[in-house]
Formats: sequence, structure tokens, C-alpha cells
Amino acid sequence: MNLAEKYGPWALISGASEGTGSAFARRLAGEGINLILIARREGPLKELADELTATHDVECVTATIDLAKPDAIDAIKAVSEGREVGLFIANAGGDPNGTGFFQTDIQNWVDLVTRNVMTVLLCCHHFGGAMRERRRGGIILVGSGACYGGASGLGVYSGTKAFDLCLGEGLWAELRRYDVDVLNLILGRTDTPEFRRHLASRGAPVPAGLASPEDVARVGLERLPHGPVHNWGLEDDEQGRMPQSAATRRDRILAMEAAMQDLKMPK
Ligand SMILES: NC(=O)c1ccc[n+]([C@@H]2O[C@H](COP(=O)([O-])OP(=O)(O)OC[C@H]3O[C@@H](n4cnc5c(N)ncnc54)[C@H](OP(=O)(O)O)[C@@H]3O)[C@@H](O)[C@H]2O)c1
Repeated sequence: MNLAEKYGPWALISGASEGTGSAFARRLAGEGINLILIARREGPLKELADELTATHDVECVTATIDLAKPDAIDAIKAVSEGREVGLFIANAGGDPNGTGFFQTDIQNWVDLVTRNVMTVLLCCHHFGGAMRERRRGGIILVGSGACYGGASGLGVYSGTKAFDLCLGEGLWAELRRYDVDVLNLILGRTDTPEFRRHLASRGAPVPAGLASPEDVARVGLERLPHGPVHNWGLEDDEQGRMPQSAATRRDRILAMEAAMQDLKMPK
């Protein structure tokens, strides 16, 4: 598959400065896709952009945007104005709090919901709508196994990831007729700087068996045409700790679509 033809000429990656975000950026630059790189810290973004433009024949634009701010979408639209974004990767999405529900200020949970739900929603509408019109493109929502249910300390994070999962499944169903691919890339433990900082802040050892960001980016792009879900480390039809396999989730959406024919739901 020629990624640039299918998902170029520009990809926009949120949370691009490190970990899985920068791994996606490196892989896409290697495929000749221009990049819009978004995060809060300017230094790492600029370093990455310099590295990629020096080693590949691509353009890189960086933007320091706090995705947890309600008006983040305005800055995202401004930086992408005039650039055809054929691939949107919503990567930023970890829980920076790592506490029980009542152990952090409510504003921190509101920020998490704004970044993971509202900003993702607004970006999907903006970029997905243009892809739909062009009948070409791709969307990757980087998710977490936490999307399949809440647990102590995970209620808000799980809720946001469950929202993204359902949104992504719905978009997959609507956009597949327009040759726009949508994938919920559901990760398990992954060796990102953010995860390591989280472990270090608790004095916890680095566990064995972490996924590498490079593998995540490679597999994510490979599985993008086979949405709506890829559960990390599991085959399409495998059942893990998740209640449903990726294949079951796809079949359920298609069966619902068939069963709702008489309701003349929008397509
Ligand atoms: N690591 C894991 O074990 C694991 C497990 C399951 C799922 N995931 C998922 O994988 C994705 C990446 O996770 P991660 O561990 O790398 O942590 P992350 O905090 O989601 O991502 C780090 C990247 O996002 C940026 N970022 C974070 N908050 C931001 C904000 N408010 N506005 C703009 N940029 C922001 C960071 O740069 P700045 O700090 O410069 O803004 C950095 O580039 C997430 O969606 C997460 O839910 C990770």
C-alpha cells in the first residue's frame, strides 16, 4: 500500500513530541507524508521537525496547542488551513492524574474529558468531513484497553476512551462508503516517556513486556484499512480481557446496520 497516495499529502498528529506520537511521525515522514505536529512543549516538537526535514523529503509544521483547552480546535484549524490533511491521528490521550476520582481537583478531570472527548470529536468532524468529501483518508484514534470498562482510579479515563471507541466505530461505519479508513488502535502497556514518568512518580519498576512505540506505529498503520478496532497483541478474532474481539465488534456494527434498514438511519 502506498501510504502517501492513500493518506497524504499531510498528516496531523496530536501528541507528536514523544512516544507513539513521534514514532508515527517518523514512519509517515519515511513514506513521504508531510506532517503537522502538535503538543504543548515547543522544544521536542522543533527537534523532531528538524530531524525529519533533514532526513526525509517532507515538510513539517509544528504547533504548541493545549488540547485540553476548549478553544484548541480553533488553533488546530488555523495551523492546518490550506493543507490537505489526509490522515488524522489522535494520539495524546493518557491520564496525567493517575489518582482516585476524589484525590484530584475536578478541573483536572474536566481537562481530561475536554482533551480526549471534545477535542477529538471536533477534530473528527473537521478533518473527517473533508475526507468524506474527498472520498479519501484515514483516522486513527489511539485508545486503551481501559475503554472496555471502569476500574478504581480509571473511571474518567476509561469513560473518555469508551467515548472514543464508540465514536470511532460509528465513523468507521459511516465513512467506509467514502473510502475513508477509521481505526481504534486499542493499546496495552506501552513504553512511552509518559508511562515511564508515571511509573517513576510512584517508585514502581518498569514492567516486562511493554509494547514499543515503533511497533505501535507500524501496526497501527498496517491495521488502519481493517478497522474499526485493533486490540493490541490480539488477532482480529481473538478474545482477550476485552469483552469482544475486534472481529465481533465489526460484525456487530454491520449486523446493527442491517437490522436498522427499516429505520432509514443516515449513512
Ligand atoms: N503508555 C501506555 O502504557 C498506554 C497504554 C494504553 C493506551 N495508551 C494511549 O497511548 C497514547 C499515548 O500515550 P502516552 O503514554 O505517550 O501519553 P500521552 O500523555 O497521551 O501522550 C504524550 C504526548 O501527548 C502530548 N500531550 C499530552 N497532553 C497534551 C495536551 N493537553 N495538549 C497537547 N499535547 C498533549 C505530549 O506532549 P506535551 O507534554 O509536550 O504536550 C506528548 O507528545 C494515549 O492516547 C494513551 O491513552 C498508552
